[in-house]
Amino acid sequence: MRRIATTSGFSATLKGETLVPPDKSMSHRSLIIGSLTRGKIKISNFLKSADCLATLDILRELGCEINFPDENTLILNAQNAYREPKKDLYCGNSGTTMRLLTGLLSAQNLKCHLTGDISLSKRPMKRIIEPLTLMGARIKSNEGKAPLTIERAELNGIEYISPIASAQVKSALLLAGSETSKGTTTVLEPYLSRDHSERMLKFLGSNIKTFRKDGLFGSTISHTPLIPKDLTIVGDISSASFLLVGAAIIKNSDIILKGIGLNPTRTGILDVLKSMNADIELLNRTEISGEEIGDIRIRYSPDLKAAKIEGEIIPRLIDEIPIIALLATQAEGTTIIKDAGDLKNKESDRIASVARELKKFGAKIEPTEDGFIIEGKNSGKGLFKGDCEVNCYHDHRIAMMGYIAGLISEKPCHINDFEWVETSFPNFLKTFENLQN
Ligand code: S3P
Repeated sequence: MRRIATTSGFSATLKGETLVPPDKSMSHRSLIIGSLTRGKIKISNFLKSADCLATLDILRELGCEINFPDENTLILNAQNAYREPKKDLYCGNSGTTMRLLTGLLSAQNLKCHLTGDISLSKRPMKRIIEPLTLMGARIKSNEGKAPLTIERAELNGIEYISPIASAQVKSALLLAGSETSKGTTTVLEPYLSRDHSERMLKFLGSNIKTFRKDGLFGSTISHTPLIPKDLTIVGDISSASFLLVGAAIIKNSDIILKGIGLNPTRTGILDVLKSMNADIELLNRTEISGEEIGDIRIRYSPDLKAAKIEGEIIPRLIDEIPIIALLATQAEGTTIIKDAGDLKNKESDRIASVARELKKFGAKIEPTEDGFIIEGKNSGKGLFKGDCEVNCYHDHRIAMMGYIAGLISEKPCHINDFEWVETSFPNFLKTFENLQN
């Protein structure tokens, strides 16, 4: 059912404490890497969002038993993994599901067919097909895009230098490498992309090693049986970023976000907020299931200044760029975002969609080949007039960016197809309503 969210119009102060949804990247991996153990594990604080449920349904089809003893805890029994599926494996809107499972399934010597929704079917899959083919995989595609058919094949390890820093490419190859008994697989990337796969594999007893070589970031893996161990998922910093930016730009806000994942490969948003002068502090830092976690306090920050965002930080905040673009409209000076050309390959072409939708609010944002140039305004005033309709192009992060822009608009705004927030943040509206007073 199509849903429209309506913002109230320049009124909402955010105050109080809240949890955010469990991490999406880790939730996918807890099922996928958890199933590599061929054992029984408990996964606590699992994200029941549309994307992660796509992964879950596919693992059931591949022979895993999955039960929920309570709302966000699941028991995964992978003793019968992996049997040949009897139907298409539908990945929905989820690039992580399709790319990681293609890596895993290529190494199982079975036949399967992976499909996706209209957005996923437009996204590039060559980036995984090419290196997996070098490993011996046999994958047919629609000119490098989904649907993908994986034929039976035996794989061998390779060394692969990825031209892009992509955790999905790296993880697809590491999963294939972990499941092939012939040789070692090494993946090198130009900057370090999120390393949840490496950490979780290590936590479950894999022999994976990470290293630096010739300025590149590498990981090496070969087949070792993994040990079933329970996993707990941390709060998703990408979902938290909508609250962080909301609080920084909405007058008088003061919030604490509890239990947020602080893996350094994901915390680029915190570095940017600090460098832009946001009033932010980290509290209660600790570790859980091999991942760092803590609370984040952020207050309304009237003296935000522009930033230059480029290079190694880009993979550390790639999913936060839509909301950072909105943040930049509220900062003094010109913000430049570069080296982020891969935004064109996300759930929507985010260079086009972010610029188009923020312009509707009156923002001065120009798209470039690999980012944006954003002219900020004096902060502390309701920048936007509002009274506009936002479209989200099957993209959850555009819907949520539009909602926050609506909160600093003088007149109410409508965000069309708001059901897309289910992809990563099912309780989005409730979370904001609870903080607004
Ligand atoms: C993800 C990796 C990133 C990110 C995506 C989730 C993951 O994609 O944008 O939302 O869970 O591995 P790329 O690997 O394409 O950069």
